[in-house]
Amino acid sequence: MKIFITGGAGYIGTHTCVELLDNGYEIVVYDNFSNSSVEALRRVETITHKSFTYISGDIRDETLLSNSMVGCDAVIHFAGLKAVGESVAKPLEYYDNNVNGTLCLLRAMQKNTIKTIVFSSSATVYGDPEFLPLTEDHPLRTTNPYGQTKLVVEEILRDLYASDPQWKIMILRYFNPVGAHESGLIGEDPQGIPNNLMPFIAQVAIGRRDYLNVFGDDYSTHDGTGVRDYIHVVDLAHGHLKALQALSVPQCTAINLGTGTGYSVLEVVKAFEVASGNNIAYQISPRREGDIAACYAHPQKAKELLHWSAMKSLETMCRDTWNFQTKNPKGYG
Ligand code: NAD
Ligand code: WQD
Repeated sequence: MKIFITGGAGYIGTHTCVELLDNGYEIVVYDNFSNSSVEALRRVETITHKSFTYISGDIRDETLLSNSMVGCDAVIHFAGLKAVGESVAKPLEYYDNNVNGTLCLLRAMQKNTIKTIVFSSSATVYGDPEFLPLTEDHPLRTTNPYGQTKLVVEEILRDLYASDPQWKIMILRYFNPVGAHESGLIGEDPQGIPNNLMPFIAQVAIGRRDYLNVFGDDYSTHDGTGVRDYIHVVDLAHGHLKALQALSVPQCTAINLGTGTGYSVLEVVKAFEVASGNNIAYQISPRREGDIAACYAHPQKAKELLHWSAMKSLETMCRDTWNFQTKNPKGYG
């Protein structure tokens, strides 16, 4: 089976490429490298001892996109912009890239009679939770343009399936992906100041940043800091393999990919100190606008429909993040 992977050079994409190649799939990566580098794909080849086709292109270039996917059987769609704060400042860029880009992709798939897609959605579509753990039938709403783009694409996919029930669509709602491949060759390489907790902590541990700002210690959580469901990126990548396998029959299904366990910011800091052997300096700062107190998955649906559960612990997530950070102090350079 040949899988067309948009955004395959990115953080989650590269780990999924490894998973697919290791399991005998052929892949074609299509990426505009706006937030990634060719070096990451070379490292995928090093890890797997396999070579594959990669094309430099934008998903909004419908002709190139359509020509590039000829002969593929299914699509995994990672390509998109993902920074919440930036989406508030540049909403048009986000809607164009994430929504218009996905429309181009779906049209190109129709043209090529490819009707199988796995889409990267996000737990952000649940907004501020009414109840925890989050089940897939929790009401959907978001508070920022990035989240809106995920929600709109989910709705487009549901409408597409309603119009043509031959489609095989899996919407995966990721919680908080962290960690890196155990080789330390691929991992998260944020440009500029990291927005997310784990890469920020890693940069404090290695001395690139002086201290971590802990955004709020007055939430109604067990220690007052924000609680999230951190999931190892290799577990997440494995979830994509299981999603493809589950798409043997037509459907449009949304599934949470999380561990079901929430950890606070201070618990992550402690776990990272143990994994790295370094002190993580931090100071308590005001809450970050738009943040919620707690967010974690009910992981049962993934277990039942995908026969998948996250296996890797917070300790492993920190250890592998640290391994990537120390082997690549400046990222992919
Ligand atoms: P990433 O930025 O590392 O990867 C996205 C890739 O898409 C990059 O390689 C980028 O160059 C490429 N890309 C962006 N716009 C493109 C375009 N118009 N045409 C072609 N390529 C394009 O991000 P990631 O963390 O690997 O996330 C992958 C997907 O998962 C994204 O859709 C993201 O919104 C979603 N997601 C991520 C997280 C997270 O915390 N990392 C959580 C939930 C959902
Ligand atoms: C985690 C916790 C912060 C940084 C975001 C997106 C979401 C999804 C994943 C794409 C929170 C705290 C963070 C820091 C801190 N992405 N924190 N100091 O906000 O749960 O989710 O990434 O879909 O859509 O919103 O993740 O890693 O930014 O924050 O105290 O410097 O760490 O307040 O409690 P978040 P995060």
